Amino acid sequence: MAQPQVGPGTSRRAFLRSVGVAGGAGAMFATMGALGLAPTAAYVAEKEASFQAPRRSDFTLQGGGGKPARVVVVGGGIAGLTSAYELGKAGYDCTVLEARDRVGGRNLTIRGGDRLTDINGVSQTAHFSKGQYMNAGPGRLAQWMVTLDYCRELGVPIEVFTNTNASALIYNPGKGMTKPVQYRTAKADVYGYVSELLSKATNAGALDGELTADDKERLLTFLKSYGSLGADYKYTGTEHRGFAVDPGAAGTPGEELGGVPSLSEVFASNVGRYFSFEFGYDQAMLMVQPVGGMDQIPKAFARAIGHEKIRTGAAVTDIKNTTDGVEVTYTQDGRTRVVEADYCIATLAPHILAKTPHNLGTEVQTALLAVKPSNASKIGLEYKSRWWEKDFKTFGGITETDLDLDHIWYPSYGHLGDRGLIIGYYNTGARSDVYSALTPAERLERAVAQGVMIHGDKYRTELAASFSHQWKLAPYLEGAWHSMPGGPDAPAYAPLNTAQGNVYFAGDYLSYLDAWQHGAITSARKIVTELHARVLAS
Ligand code: PHE
Repeated sequence: MAQPQVGPGTSRRAFLRSVGVAGGAGAMFATMGALGLAPTAAYVAEKEASFQAPRRSDFTLQGGGGKPARVVVVGGGIAGLTSAYELGKAGYDCTVLEARDRVGGRNLTIRGGDRLTDINGVSQTAHFSKGQYMNAGPGRLAQWMVTLDYCRELGVPIEVFTNTNASALIYNPGKGMTKPVQYRTAKADVYGYVSELLSKATNAGALDGELTADDKERLLTFLKSYGSLGADYKYTGTEHRGFAVDPGAAGTPGEELGGVPSLSEVFASNVGRYFSFEFGYDQAMLMVQPVGGMDQIPKAFARAIGHEKIRTGAAVTDIKNTTDGVEVTYTQDGRTRVVEADYCIATLAPHILAKTPHNLGTEVQTALLAVKPSNASKIGLEYKSRWWEKDFKTFGGITETDLDLDHIWYPSYGHLGDRGLIIGYYNTGARSDVYSALTPAERLERAVAQGVMIHGDKYRTELAASFSHQWKLAPYLEGAWHSMPGGPDAPAYAPLNTAQGNVYFAGDYLSYLDAWQHGAITSARKIVTELHARVLAS
């Protein structure tokens, strides 16, 4: 690297930028330290936007000032693992304390042989066959999420996760539907009638104030194809709805699905309420999943960090700022131990952290308590056959219903295999609470009874094994995600967005992507950047 010269005419900022470009974040921090500049919040924000991992050379470049610190990471979920992994790159001595028997936090994959006990004392053992698994927590990743950068870096193979499938079903008995319809059919009808109405308004001149003659022409052309309208701009059904008998060889033109409902029947069924979901920046296809279960991500993190740095079954009972560091107490195998370190990164869920004794003060406690956990749950149903593929011609995707199972997920792995595992409910909030109040056997019965309404008897007769998982009842987690009015930058949470003495906070709740690993990772990276800047400047 060429030695940059600070001369007259070189602004400090331009100089720093040139060092940063050539030498990376570390060189820039080091130079800032040498110039006696404290890293500013704006600087840290800029670095975070294009995250650069701390490096060992960051310290030597500074000329003997800082050195890799000891960091105790409380919580081995995605935020904690990211923190330890990234700091580890620069030689920080990290210890991860995880209360549960495995890392990952809410990134939890359940396989045959797993036995979990809820906070109410109820245990379940999964009897899934080999190769079948259930992602109880995160199950999908958008292509733009930083989670995929870690899959690349850590060597976790990915495959397509089918979030939207024209063959999946919609069933709203609460709105008078007597049988499920395929997404493709529901969309054809909704788009068809909306297009018809808009064409009518356009042709009647109702939009003349908004549209030029050319606009009108183009809009009508669009609506005709989008809604599959006839020459008179009427919607009378279309092959977009699907076929009762599929077309085939000569002599077999197929038979289009009949019984086109009226406009008012279509809107009364409320099928259209599901369509905007797939437009979400976080939910739009194409989406992906790790091959072999979402927990391949925390497993790969743990390997990269080093298992010797991670203590599982280590429940933290006290977090203390001391004058020059931190003291974190935990129990493991019935014994109480203390870890002393320079810094702590607390990644527990805020409502769990609030229950953990600490000396971080009342403002922190108030902020933690202002974050409310919310619930979600899933049941995994393993079947002896993949009847949804064979009988329903559905390979992955999600069925939607106003029954309280909410969503059925068909597996995006193992296609055409012998067995398969469906997520028989994935529900949230009050609907999740309904299932949390039931025994596992009752949850299964409720989910299967509803599934039979959608798919018929095989939903019951082909069943081989099940496991239900309620985040509200999960030890050390007790929630799926968070309700934070105003978002993570609202004043109520400000104490959690700055270091309190030597303690930092990270987690998906301190991001704009709550309930996503991307949120946990970006929050952890922000803390890593801040902590490293502070150490380098010390
Ligand atoms: N990330 C979770 C999921 O995809 C929770 C979530 C659902 C977040 C919908 C945003 C929107 O299921």
